[in-house]
Amino acid sequence: MNKCLLILSFIYLAEGQQEVTVHLKQDVTLVCQSSSVENISVLKWSRSDLNSDGYVYFYRNKRCFESYQHPWFHGRVMLRDAGMKGGDASLILKNATFKDAGIYECHLLVRELVESRRSYSEISHVINLTVTDAGEFGARDVLVRP
Ligand SMILES: *[C@@H]1O[C@H](CO)[C@@H](O)[C@H](O)[C@H]1NC(C)=O
Ligand SMILES: *[C@@H]1O[C@H](CO)[C@@H](O)[C@H](O)[C@H]1NC(C)=O
Ligand SMILES: *[C@@H]1O[C@H](CO)[C@@H](O)[C@H](O)[C@H]1NC(C)=O
Repeated sequence: MNKCLLILSFIYLAEGQQEVTVHLKQDVTLVCQSSSVENISVLKWSRSDLNSDGYVYFYRNKRCFESYQHPWFHGRVMLRDAGMKGGDASLILKNATFKDAGIYECHLLVRELVESRRSYSEISHVINLTVTDAGEFGARDVLVRP
């Protein structure tokens, strides 16, 4: 395969970051969507402050690599759709604790065919997860306008 035929394009679909709030001990879905393309080569969910110790979730070539996963997330995260149908790369984090608050980044490498040549696009999505104490005060909607 001629390396010149490999086109790398970087597409940042969702710019800016998404604010997500979860109550203590609840499950939360961190949404990440790869347009309509289903051919996901690599999916990395990471948290910038834990990067050196592993990923939140790491998937490559149709399998999850638990050895690349940060121990904190072992058994606590799962894909919303195990088959990532329709490009759904959302992650469910179970039983949230205060230590789960932070900046999560979804990073996707998607294989595409452009004019019958193979190319890859990269998609990034950033989520700021806040964990609040359970109770009615946690349910407030906070609207922040620039
Ligand atoms: C949720 O996590 C807490 C520790 O943060 C643990 O004590 C509890 O057993 C967990 N609950 C479930 C349903 O896993
Ligand atoms: C997705 O992968 C399949 C099998 O590898 C291939 O036949 C198909 O052309 C790919 N689709 C895209 C959009 O690259
Ligand atoms: C994430 O959200 C929290 C709570 O709303 C906020 O205090 C913090 O500044 C946000 N972090 C970033 C990097 O935007």
